[in-house]
Amino acid sequence: MRIDIVSIAPKIFQGPFYNYIVKRAINKGLVNINVHDLREYGIGKRKKVDDYPYGGGSGMVIKIEPVYKCFSKLSEKINYDEIIFMTPDGMLFSQKYAEYLTYKKNIIILCGHYKGIDQRIRDNLISKEISIGNYVLSGGELAAAVVIESVVRLLPGAIKNKESIITDSFQKKYVIAPPIYTRPRIYKGWKVPKILFSGHHKKIKNWLQKKSVPFIQQK
Ligand code: ADE
Repeated sequence: MRIDIVSIAPKIFQGPFYNYIVKRAINKGLVNINVHDLREYGIGKRKKVDDYPYGGGSGMVIKIEPVYKCFSKLSEKINYDEIIFMTPDGMLFSQKYAEYLTYKKNIIILCGHYKGIDQRIRDNLISKEISIGNYVLSGGELAAAVVIESVVRLLPGAIKNKESIITDSFQKKYVIAPPIYTRPRIYKGWKVPKILFSGHHKKIKNWLQKKSVPFIQQK
């Protein structure tokens, strides 16, 4: 899978992909993540990427020309399956959509900033708009990192123990995973449930099932 991120704040991505699973997936060649600085496609000497909104109002708007130039350059060699724009008014991201994205070969993720981006980009160059929650971030970079992490860890080979993905919260028909414990048995008087030491695999399984609660997805 190849992911091309387009952003005016590319440095933000120096951190998130250094986490163990994403880094390992990159090193194993399961995913190729490229970050592109939109400013490199900016206009004129000053590499302008934003401008004042028509009709007035505060805040700056990302211009269409740099985005078009960047997407065109990327599309010269690669056919993209999905061109995603991160925005708080997009479709609410979910585990199901993360799974869907694992089947895509090449995707672009455009991160918004400032007040927004020229609507013509959204209308003509974007195939999907995604939100990671009903709140507003200053830019789409952290949201893109969330989406990428949740997709990459699902790629076959990214996680050694397959079982661990299957039992993850949300993966199995939107069920929250049961609580888990490790040593010590007692810490400051707080005890691990006795059933887990019983050795009765069936009883343990039943207990774990009982503790897995259905997740009601919010709209
Ligand atoms: N950009 C700003 N806020 C966002 C959000 N909640 N989801 C996705 N992109 C965003």
